Amino acid sequence: MAMVYAVKGIILHGGAGTRLRPLTHTGPKQLIPVANKPISQYVLEDLVKAQIQDVAIVLGDASPQKVKEHFRNGEKFGAKITYINQGEPKGIAHAVGLCREFTKDDSFVVYLGDNMLKGGIKDYVKKFKESNYDAMVLLCEVKNPQQFGVAMFDDEKRLVKLVEKPKEPPSNFALTGIYFFTPKIFDAIDKLKPSWRGELEITEALQHLIEAGFNVGYQFVKGWWKDTGTTEDILESNRLVLDDLIPEIRGTVEDEATVQGRVAIGENTIIKRGALIRGPTIIGKDTIIEGNTFIGPYTSIGDNVHVKQGEIENSIIMNYCIIDSTEKIIDSLIGHHTTIATDHNRPKGLRLIVGENAKIVL
Ligand code: TTP
Repeated sequence: MAMVYAVKGIILHGGAGTRLRPLTHTGPKQLIPVANKPISQYVLEDLVKAQIQDVAIVLGDASPQKVKEHFRNGEKFGAKITYINQGEPKGIAHAVGLCREFTKDDSFVVYLGDNMLKGGIKDYVKKFKESNYDAMVLLCEVKNPQQFGVAMFDDEKRLVKLVEKPKEPPSNFALTGIYFFTPKIFDAIDKLKPSWRGELEITEALQHLIEAGFNVGYQFVKGWWKDTGTTEDILESNRLVLDDLIPEIRGTVEDEATVQGRVAIGENTIIKRGALIRGPTIIGKDTIIEGNTFIGPYTSIGDNVHVKQGEIENSIIMNYCIIDSTEKIIDSLIGHHTTIATDHNRPKGLRLIVGENAKIVL
């Protein structure tokens, strides 16, 4: 068995997040809450559970101070965090390349801050530590390999090639956003030139390693894996996490309010009589759910929210929102401090005041 050594962690928290506009105008996509917890917090917790406490967070240019405010020095999460600025997104390999000083001679895990993995990474880290791989990737079987980086194997099941978004995929195994590296990856990154999309591609760096004869291993994901690049992906992650929700009622459920199935309700939250909450659903703290409401299934409602009336299903409602609507809200992602209300006196027609890059489907 190879020597067991220290492994560090790198969370990529940059990127443009164009597919998640306008949410990404006011913060990085990795801070979007799934079941009331930012996606990148799941990532940090996965690293810590795998005994990786020394973690660098690579920041982009979308409100990086919000990331620092949330994670601070990492102590609250059992980690020691170093912040590294990437700014403009010049590619995953570019972001990793900025971490040389941080990793020094240690091996490290790169975990994209918008990826989610059921069961965490503990087992894979253990396998990597016990192996003599120069790098290791985590693969997941997918139905649409054309949209991913895809692995190609030889007859001995060795990884021989990684192909980006192939028209004719050599396998159904996609590269996930979790990579295990030794410092050898830095030499491969040095050889990279920007790709057609102007980024330094980590797939290409791995390909360089394979071609130079290094030992690039792989593991298969055992549970589910989700890349949360779009609103649909985020809502699906929300459903997957809520499926495993541990029911817990900390707030007050008034008599004649109904709570069915897997439901978690935070401190100081009040579910008023007449309300119906159907699990799986999570409701944060200091929230008020009035009587004339129907919430769930598959819904996450944040802290300090006031649902005055309405039906909400398969949605994420972030902190400090006010919902007072006679229309049913479904499949929605509602940012912090948003008000959605029905105006009973409004003239016929839609009156909209909307910023740039919004998507409104009526
Ligand atoms: P992507 O989802 O591929 O890119 P993006 O964030 O720019 O999103 P979009 O395509 O919607 O514009 O990025 C994958 C992950 O890597 C994500 O967590 C962001 C992170 N990342 C960086 O930290 N730095 C970078 O330079 C790039 C390209 C991505």
